Formats: sequence, structure tokens, C-alpha cells
Amino acid sequence: MSESKQIIRVGLVGSRFAAEIHYAAYQRIAGNGVEVVGVTSNTEEHRRTFAEKRGIVAFESLEQMLPEVDAIDNCTPGWAHEPVTVAALQAGKHVIVEKPFTGYYGPAERTGFKGNRFPKSEMLEGAMGSARRIIDAAAKSHTKLCYAENWVYAPAVQKEAEIIFKTKAQIMWALAGHSHSGSPSPAYGTWRLSGGGSVVGKSCHPLTAILYLKQVEGLAHSGKPIRPKTVSARTHELTRNPGFIDKGFIRTQYDDIEDYCQLHVVFDDGMVADVFASEIVMGGVHNWIELVANNHRVRCNLSPVDAMQFYNPLEEQLDDVYIMERVGTKQGWLNPAPDESFMFGYPQELQDFIEAIVEDRPPKSGPLLASDTVSVLYSAYVSAEEKGREVEIPIDRKL
Ligand SMILES: NC(=O)c1ccc[n+]([C@@H]2O[C@H](COP(=O)([O-])OP(=O)(O)OC[C@H]3O[C@@H](n4cnc5c(N)ncnc54)[C@H](O)[C@@H]3O)[C@@H](O)[C@H]2O)c1
Repeated sequence: MSESKQIIRVGLVGSRFAAEIHYAAYQRIAGNGVEVVGVTSNTEEHRRTFAEKRGIVAFESLEQMLPEVDAIDNCTPGWAHEPVTVAALQAGKHVIVEKPFTGYYGPAERTGFKGNRFPKSEMLEGAMGSARRIIDAAAKSHTKLCYAENWVYAPAVQKEAEIIFKTKAQIMWALAGHSHSGSPSPAYGTWRLSGGGSVVGKSCHPLTAILYLKQVEGLAHSGKPIRPKTVSARTHELTRNPGFIDKGFIRTQYDDIEDYCQLHVVFDDGMVADVFASEIVMGGVHNWIELVANNHRVRCNLSPVDAMQFYNPLEEQLDDVYIMERVGTKQGWLNPAPDESFMFGYPQELQDFIEAIVEDRPPKSGPLLASDTVSVLYSAYVSAEEKGREVEIPIDRKL
């Protein structure tokens, strides 16, 4: 007699962009051992519309939703990641947390707080403390803590991980970027809501993918992950620079965050990575990783991809057709993404998380990657405050 299959009941927290992506990705999980039961968010009308459209329950609060689910999927802005995650962990629930895992969102008395002018070493300490509190809460509750960094699960990154592992490659220089023309989230742009700009909101994606690949490399060689050691970084506020000439094509009006950054990371083994991120790039989201290894070279194009090269003579005829994230215009030559969600790794990440819960094993992207990412990102701010000084990264050695 076959055992009845375990179905993990998930509740979404947040009902906007990230929640929409995740809901759609849950529908694609192979074997489908998951049911998205409901959603909660801060705005009643929005969560009701979201729930009605998908035939799920709109819960008035997290507290109301928790008894009805086994796991929550935290799709709130960065500032809410710690309180929402810790509340769910303390209730004995598994938690999936969107990027950024956590960060620094200002002192308790928030009047006049401007992140770009606040001492960055205090931010680093605050962000690391927040990461530690979340990870401790997960350890205490014996539940799974899954860090939803989808780049780790992108098919191109997973293929490269296989090659690194099987050929025992050494990554000598990793080069990567993530840019587009500005986030639509109302929370993005204000440090106390987002925890920073391009460093925290964008460079996190390629950075975490590289941290993951260096971990895989270390495991192949010595059974121990290679971890980041130092970082040098620069940040700029290009759209708020008085010299910027605004032609209206990219988002502006950020409050106190940077819209450009570059990070240079040195690893334990002395090898390096350069990561670029910005809010100023037109033509759709630009996601790429290039690796120079001791036995191969690779370029992973997550977006745009050239599986289709399409010429459209008339903008309006593609009004109802999705082309790619933040494409801007649909006229002329286009690179439609035939399956962007898959190329970005969304169904694969959620599948790994659900299987990790069912099989009681660690997810590929869990506390170690989450913690190392936070420590690199906020150390980068410390460096940028001093115009690029090399800063030791205080990684959590207990992990
Ligand atoms: N991995 C990716 O590709 C990707 C893409 C977009 C966003 N994100 C991340 O996902 C998160 C959400 O992004 P978004 O663009 O959907 O943000 P958003 O600001 O558009 O929406 C946030 C949602 O969270 C709800 N919310 C806020 N605080 C809450 C609280 N305390 N309790 C319950 N609900 C709360 C809001 O009502 C809203 O529904 C961010 O951390 C962002 O960085 C990741």
C-alpha cells in the first residue's frame, strides 16, 4: 500500500511582485507536494484581489494565517523580513525568505534617519545581529530556514556548479552583474524600508550565486566551503547627481539609497570576484555571470537570452504578450524570454525548499549563504563609505 503523500501548506506574506512570481512558481513544482493556502499583507483590498484571483484565502493577519499553514513564504520588503520570519519560526513554522535576507533599517527612533549618511559600521553590526537572531530562532524551532535567492537555482548556475564539482575547477575570477531601470516597489528607494539600494537590492543576486559556486568548489576540493574574506566597494547616486540629465527613461527620485555599485571580493583561497549592479540600465533586466577558472571559462546569460530573436514592427500588437522583465519597449528587435521564470530559477528554488522540508534536509540556499551574503553586503557599505578601502568581512564562523 502506498503511503499518502505529504502536502506542505504554504501561506504567502505580501501580495505584490515577489508574491505573484512565487505563487506562479509553486504551480510548477514537480510532484506538487505543496498547496498555497492563502495570503496576508498590509493592504486589505490588494490581498483580497490577489486571493480571489487565485482561489485562496485572504488572511487579515500573520497571526490568523499561521495556524493554517506549515510554512510561510516571506515576500515582504526587507525591513519586515526579521519580524515576520521570527514570528513564524517561533510558531514552529518553516520559513522561506526573499532577498535581501535581512539588513539595517535605521535606529529605533527613526526621525531624520538617512541611510546614505548613517555610519556604516553600525549598520554592519546591526545587520549581522539581525541575521544571527533569525538563524538562532530557526535553530531553536527545529524548522527549515530557506533563503530565496533564485540565482542559485538558475539552470545555468546549477549546470556550472555541476561542472565545477565534477572537474574540481578553481574559480580564479568571477565577474557578474544585475541591473535594470528601477524597481517598481514603493518601498524601494527609502533605506528604512529596503535596507539600502543597488548593493543590498541588486548586487545580492550575482554575489550570492558566486558565493554558492565558491562553496561548491570548496566542497569538491576539501569538503569545506570557500568563504569570502575581504571586500572593496564603491557606490554612487547617479540619478541624484546634479550633473545627471534626465530624459525620463529610467526611475529616479530615490530618497537615500545608491543607484550604482561595484564590489571586489577576495576569497579565503586568494581568488577574486567583481560584481556590478545598478538601477540605470535600459533594455530589460540584465543578469549575467562570467567565470574564469583554472580549467575553463564560462558565460551564463540569465537575461537577455537569445533563444528567440524577434522583430516587431508595431508596439501595440504585443500589448498582451509578456516579453521579458522590464523590457521598456516592445517595438523593433527583441529577445523574448520563452520561460523567464525557469531561466531565473523560481520553480526550482521552491521545489528544493519544499523537498528540504519534506525530507528534513538542508536546502541548497539556507542560513550559511544568507548570513555570508549579509556580511559581504554591509561590509561593502563600510568600504564604500571610505571610497573603496579593503575591509575584512566578519563572517559568522559558527555556521
Ligand atoms: N528574487 C527576486 O527576483 C525578487 C523580485 C522582486 C522582489 N524581490 C524581493 O521580494 C520582497 C518583496 O518585493 P515586492 O517587490 O513584492 O515588494 P512590494 O513593496 O511591492 O510589496 C510588499 C508586500 O508586502 C506586504 N507587507 C509589507 N509589510 C508587511 C508585514 N509586516 N506583514 C504583512 N505584509 C506586509 C505589503 O502589503 C505588500 O503586499 C523584497 O524583499 C524584494 O527584495 C525579489
